[in-house]
Amino acid sequence: MSKLNVADLRRNYTKGGLLEEDMPDNPVRLFESWVKQAVDSEALEPNAMTLATVKPLGQPNVRNVLLKGINEESIQFFTNYASTKAMELDSNPSVSVAFWWPELERQVRIFGVAEKLSDDQNEEYFKSRPRNSQIGAWASDQSSPIENRVELEKKFREIETKFEGKEIPKPDDWGGYAIQIEEIEFWQGRPGRLHDRIHCNKINGQWKIQRLQP
Ligand SMILES: Cc1cc2nc3c(=O)[nH]c(=O)nc-3n(C[C@H](O)[C@H](O)[C@H](O)COP(=O)(O)O)c2cc1C
Repeated sequence: MSKLNVADLRRNYTKGGLLEEDMPDNPVRLFESWVKQAVDSEALEPNAMTLATVKPLGQPNVRNVLLKGINEESIQFFTNYASTKAMELDSNPSVSVAFWWPELERQVRIFGVAEKLSDDQNEEYFKSRPRNSQIGAWASDQSSPIENRVELEKKFREIETKFEGKEIPKPDDWGGYAIQIEEIEFWQGRPGRLHDRIHCNKINGQWKIQRLQP
């Protein structure tokens, strides 16, 4: 194996800072503006987030999903309700999420509890998806094994034919979650590893804001 010296890879962060006085009353507003700045920075997938769930025996399980909505109290994503992550959320709805925007030298971590969205919310978002993604939602029993790629493409074509010329309905097992935000932490890279970390904890509806050492 060729020798790759990852230990010597390091970058000095100089793009910005985050002070306590920059925090709005609701820290989720700052999160929203950081997402907007990530979009404006032309990051490749500015709304990609690493989502950790908990397996039945307590081990963590992470994967990336796409952020699809933000409101005052929650963030939303969509998936398959029969997938591994959904099974894990059925038994333990606690989640942790991380965003990393290298272009802005920023990280955000969110801790919270995931709740299924309503049928109306799921229908509304499903309707807005490109047709190919709608067909894909029918064709994929997400997280279940399949014999090979050919079988998967065959399923896709069968669904395509079945719904030809018709609107594609939302599959029953497809939908979203709202993660009710309990904690949110902002990280801004700074020179000399003296990064800014502002941790916000929602206690009885009030945000407690603390600076943490980097
Ligand atoms: C950038 C990126 C975005 C993704 N977005 C989603 C998403 O929004 N929803 C989803 O179900 N899977 C998404 N995936 C696939 C998941 O990472 C994962 O493979 C899939 O959801 C199955 O996870 P599970 O078996 O833990 O349920 C995305 C993958 C990547 C790399």
